[in-house]
Amino acid sequence: MHPTKSTRTQVAIVGAGPAGLFLSHLLHRQGIESVILEHRSREEIEGTIRAGVLEQWVVDLMNDMGLGDRMMREAHFHSGITLRFDRRSHHIDMAELTGGKRVTVYAQHEVIRDLVSARLEDGGTILFGVSDVQFHDLEGKTPHVQFRRGADGPLEELRCDFVAGCDGFHGPSRQAIPAATRTEYQMVYPFGWLGILTEAPPSHPELIYANHERGFALLSTRSPEVQRLYIQVDPKDDIANWSDDRIWSELHRRLEDDSGWTLTEGSIFQKGIIAMRSFVCDPMRHGRLFIAGDAAHIVPPTGAKGLNLAVADVAVLSRALAAYYKSGTTEGLDGYSATCLRRIWKAERFSWSMTTMLHRNEAESPFEQRVHLAELDYLVHSRAAMTALAENYVGLPME
Ligand code: FAD
Ligand code: PHB
Repeated sequence: MHPTKSTRTQVAIVGAGPAGLFLSHLLHRQGIESVILEHRSREEIEGTIRAGVLEQWVVDLMNDMGLGDRMMREAHFHSGITLRFDRRSHHIDMAELTGGKRVTVYAQHEVIRDLVSARLEDGGTILFGVSDVQFHDLEGKTPHVQFRRGADGPLEELRCDFVAGCDGFHGPSRQAIPAATRTEYQMVYPFGWLGILTEAPPSHPELIYANHERGFALLSTRSPEVQRLYIQVDPKDDIANWSDDRIWSELHRRLEDDSGWTLTEGSIFQKGIIAMRSFVCDPMRHGRLFIAGDAAHIVPPTGAKGLNLAVADVAVLSRALAAYYKSGTTEGLDGYSATCLRRIWKAERFSWSMTTMLHRNEAESPFEQRVHLAELDYLVHSRAAMTALAENYVGLPME
């Protein structure tokens, strides 16, 4: 079928998550035009509860781009995290260990809100609610993306120089890389996270990651009035099996220590279960298509890396595109996949190691379970080990 309307931009971006929105801003700063095609509505993307922790360089980038005002007012800046196991608490002072890099808690949907409104104010184009996105001529000279506005609008065509697939794990862009030319690495964990939002004051000044024989628990925050907490559960469990009382009872048992600290309860107004996986697609390019963020890789959330890694990919991509438009060099574009994958594999390793160290895996032998406790015990008594954790958590340097 022939499209009824044809428009042109330099970079067609599919997906208005962190990857697509940061990319559009970074390109705009270099004078490169883009159009974002987003499947969901603005309200939906601004209301989806996901990640919470920003690496220091992402905070710096938001500020550099002039997008950090609300974040600097409303985010929570912590000097470190608390690890809890054997009913004892250990503070890891990340700022002290990394020369001042802090843990910033600012919800992903707040980042999305800031990026969407600034992009629209700049005159940028984000088309919400598009459907039927299809890629064409990715290996040729006339790449273009076809789509419909709404569920059944007429077919339109967006011609471009490059396509950025920022459409998350379930989006179509990764599948546009021929299966014969890509390798997928995957590990699925036998546990998931039940996450809640509760109306309560903070119970603790910083995040608590707890290893407990009943399973992992995490205490995080969102605002002085709203707290975010998680417990390890069976990924196939039904949220209907989890009454508020049962959730609070597990949180109390897994989070409490011998210091007399207590968890403050509140009313739960959002709850859900997410499964956990590690996933990497190699390469992240096919012709003029470049995939970024969750479209290319997934990490379990224990390392708080998902959003940050998505931004790292598009920082590399925007640099490569800027060099191409400035001088015609394709060196950065040719190296995109390899450059990103070096950082991705380090984040995969870190997220996997935090996950296996902190969760209870019934399939593991008692020997393996004791090894995780020994690892934690070593960690909190070794400055070298704490520094390694801190460097990874606050964000490895960008190349
Ligand atoms: P996404 O944020 O997934 O954005 C992709 C966008 O593409 C979406 O808006 C989607 O609607 C759009 N899209 C998809 N298909 C199409 C299409 N066909 N056409 C047009 N648009 C399309 N990370 C953490 O660090 N901590 C957490 O606690 C955490 N919790 C999470 C909870 C959930 C339920 C999920 C799914 C992820 C979570 N993550 C977490 C991971 C983190 O949120 C992601 O790594 C991050 O959102 C990646 O950003 P992205 O831009 O690559 O992809
Ligand atoms: C969150 O606040 O949602 C959060 C914090 C730390 C993580 C994962 C999620 O490791």
